[in-house]
Amino acid sequence: MKQEELQAIAAQLKHPTGEKGIEMANMMHETNINMTRHSIQNLHIESGNTILELGHGNAGHVEFIFEQAENLKYYGLEMSELMYQEARRINRNYVSQKQAFFSLYDGNVIPFQDNFFDKIFTVNTLYFWQDPEKLLSEIYRILQPKGVFCLTFAEESFMKQLPFTQFEFELYSTEKAEKLIEKTAFKIINKETLTEKVKSKMGDLVDRVFTTLVLEK
Ligand SMILES: C[S@@+](CC[C@H](N)C(=O)[O-])C[C@H]1O[C@@H](n2cnc3c(N)ncnc32)[C@H](O)[C@@H]1O
Repeated sequence: MKQEELQAIAAQLKHPTGEKGIEMANMMHETNINMTRHSIQNLHIESGNTILELGHGNAGHVEFIFEQAENLKYYGLEMSELMYQEARRINRNYVSQKQAFFSLYDGNVIPFQDNFFDKIFTVNTLYFWQDPEKLLSEIYRILQPKGVFCLTFAEESFMKQLPFTQFEFELYSTEKAEKLIEKTAFKIINKETLTEKVKSKMGDLVDRVFTTLVLEK
């Protein structure tokens, strides 16, 4: 594959746009659903929880969240206008019932008040954060004192084998992510690294290693 094609894939993963963006989001939803479910399960969602997800893509997994407990409110934040629109379309029933709320933000300042959320999670977005320490301090600010934040990402050892990650991506090993967290007020209360089989762009099955860090205030 040419360098420009690889660059285009990386750009779509970072910020899906146009018709290709919709295709890419469908593909991401299918490929990443196991990581997403792992992150959600580590939140231990309880009835009445208010939950935030950063970078939900097309948000085809929101139904799975509502299966976890009663009386939930889900908020999704994106930087991609296309993903915001897709997520609202796919989840229109939850949106009209005022159970799911989607908004756009600038990737740095989270437009919610202090201590607003019981649970926060994000999957496959860490690589694209412009200012990771600043965003983590924002996540800390909006999480309630007994809240949980799950940070789920694919390991650098796996990601660096994918040719498009040389563009746009900042890759993380568990150790590097832990060092980043140490610079914040968060405490790491659990970490889990799993290996799963995923279909590569060539159609064969490869082992992907990913990690969820479970953080508390
Ligand atoms: C690789 S996709 C992952 C989508 C989904 N979470 C998944 O794992 O399939 C990254 C998504 O995060 C969004 N994104 C990138 N940087 C972000 C940030 N700083 N905050 C929130 N979302 C971000 C992108 O627009 C894109 O939809």
